[in-house]
Amino acid sequence: MNPPQRCAAVVVGAGPAGLAVMGNLLEKQLGGKIAWVDPYFQAGRVHRKYREVPSNTKVALFQAYATAVQPFRSVINSTRIPSPFSTMAKLDQDKTCHLHHAADMVRALTEGIVKMDEVYACRGHVTAANLADKTSSWTVRIQRADHSDEVELITPRLILCTGSSPTQVPIPACGQHIERLDLDIVLKPSDLVSYLPRNEPQTVAVVGASHSAILALLNLGDLARSTHPQLRIKWFTRHPLRYAEYMDGWILRDNTGLKGLAADFARQQLEDDQLPQSEAGRFITKIDCAGGQEAGQYERHLPSCAHLVQAVGFTRDPLPELSVNGTALEPEFDAVSGGFHDAAGRVVPGLHGAGIAFPERVVDPHGNVEHAVGFFKFMNFLKKVSPQWTA
Ligand SMILES: Cc1cc2nc3c(=O)[nH]c(=O)nc-3n(C[C@H](O)[C@H](O)[C@H](O)COP(=O)(O)OP(=O)(O)OC[C@H]3O[C@@H](n4cnc5c(N)ncnc54)[C@H](O)[C@@H]3O)c2cc1C
Ligand SMILES: NC(=O)c1ccc[n+]([C@@H]2O[C@H](COP(=O)([O-])OP(=O)(O)OC[C@H]3O[C@@H](n4cnc5c(N)ncnc54)[C@H](OP(=O)(O)O)[C@@H]3O)[C@@H](O)[C@H]2O)c1
Repeated sequence: MNPPQRCAAVVVGAGPAGLAVMGNLLEKQLGGKIAWVDPYFQAGRVHRKYREVPSNTKVALFQAYATAVQPFRSVINSTRIPSPFSTMAKLDQDKTCHLHHAADMVRALTEGIVKMDEVYACRGHVTAANLADKTSSWTVRIQRADHSDEVELITPRLILCTGSSPTQVPIPACGQHIERLDLDIVLKPSDLVSYLPRNEPQTVAVVGASHSAILALLNLGDLARSTHPQLRIKWFTRHPLRYAEYMDGWILRDNTGLKGLAADFARQQLEDDQLPQSEAGRFITKIDCAGGQEAGQYERHLPSCAHLVQAVGFTRDPLPELSVNGTALEPEFDAVSGGFHDAAGRVVPGLHGAGIAFPERVVDPHGNVEHAVGFFKFMNFLKKVSPQWTA
C-alpha cells in the first residue's frame, strides 16, 4: 500500500446525496482535494434499480437540485446540448417524470464533477475508518473496485452517503413454500414481466401501503391485465391509505403521504369504495391487517401465496467499520446537525451523514415529525448544515 494521501474531505457514496455533498464542499473551496469514493459512480440506486419508477416529486425539484450550487452550474454550462439537463428542462416542470430522467441528470453531473482538479475520484469501497482523537483526523481505508490494492486517505472530514435498501421483517406464517420476491424487481416492470411465470395460476402477497407498496400493486396489476392473466395479488395492509395534502405554503405528510401517479392510482382504484368495482380490484384482494389482527390474517391468507413482496420501508446499508483510536464506534446519527454522537453522547469529530440513510428530521406546522428524503431535500439540508462542517 502507498503512503496515505491527505484530503480536505472524504465523501463515501456517489448517489444523489453524495453528489449533493460534493457540490456543497466544492463550492466552499476547502483548499485541498476532496476524495469521492464509490464502486460505480453511476447515480446510486436510482440508476441501478429505479429508472422505470415514476417520480413522486415534480420535475422542477430535480431542476432545483441540479442548479443549487455553482460547481453543478459549471458542469451544466460546459455540457454539450442535447444533454440530460436540456431534456429535463424541456419537461413540464409542474409534473412528475420517470426516474431515468433524474438518474441521467445525476450521472451527467457526476461525470463533470469527477473531472474537476479539486476532486480525487476513487472507484472502490470504503471498508474502514479510524479517528485519531488527538489529531482529529480520520484514516480511511478503501478497497479498490478491481481488487488491485487498498488505498489509505487521511482527512479531517468523513461524510457517509451510503444509501439504504428495502427492509425485510419477519412475517407471521411465512412458510418455506413462499418465495421472496425482491421489491427492486417489482419496481422494474421490464424485469418483473420475465421473472414471474406467465401461464400458471399464482398469487403474490404484497405487504405495505406507502409509495413502494402502491407501485408494486400497480405493476403487478398491469401484468395480471396483460401478459399474466392468471396472476392474483393479496394486499396486506395495516393502515388506511395516506396522501400528501397541499396546505397553505406547506405540505402535510410531505415525506410519508402518497403523491403523483401512486396517489392517483390509490385514490381511483384502491380505496375501499373503489376497489370492488375498479379494474385493479379484478386482481387485487385487500387483506386488512389493522387493529392487531395481523398474525391471524397472515395465517389465513398467506398459505395460498407463492411469492411475497415486502414494501415496508428502507434500511441503512452496512457502514464501513468505524473506530476511534482503534476502539469500535457505533455512531448515532444526529438528524438535526447531520453529525454523529458516540455511545456517551459526545460529538464524533468530523463525521457527517446525508441521504436516504441519514436524512434530516423535520417538524411540520402541525407538529408532525418526519424524515426528509428526496433529491432537493438532501440539498436543502446540506445547504443548512455543511457550512458548520467546514467552519
Ligand atoms: C423507489 C424509490 C423512488 C424514489 N423516488 C424519488 C423521487 O421521485 N424524488 C426524490 O426526490 N426522491 C426519491 N426517492 C428518494 C431518494 O432521493 C433516493 O432514494 C435516492 O436515490 C437516495 O440517494 P442516496 O445517495 O442517499 O443513496 P443511494 O442512491 O443508495 O446511493 C448510495 C451510494 O453509496 C455507495 N456506497 C455504499 N456504501 C459504500 C461504501 N462503503 N464505499 C463506497 N461507496 C458506498 C453505493 O454504491 C451507492 O452508489 C426515491 C427512493 C426510492 C427507494
Ligand atoms: N417515486 C416514488 O413514487 C417512490 C416509490 C417508492 C419509494 N419512494 C420513496 O422512497 C422512500 C421509502 O418509501 P417506501 O414506500 O418504500 O417506504 P416508507 O415510506 O418508509 O413506508 C414504509 C411503510 O411500510 C409500512 N410498514 C412497516 N412495517 C410494516 C409491517 N411489518 N407490516 C405492514 N406494513 C409495514 C409502514 O407502515 P406504518 O406507518 O404502519 O409503520 C409504512 O407505511 C420514501 O422517501 C419514498 O418517497 C418513492
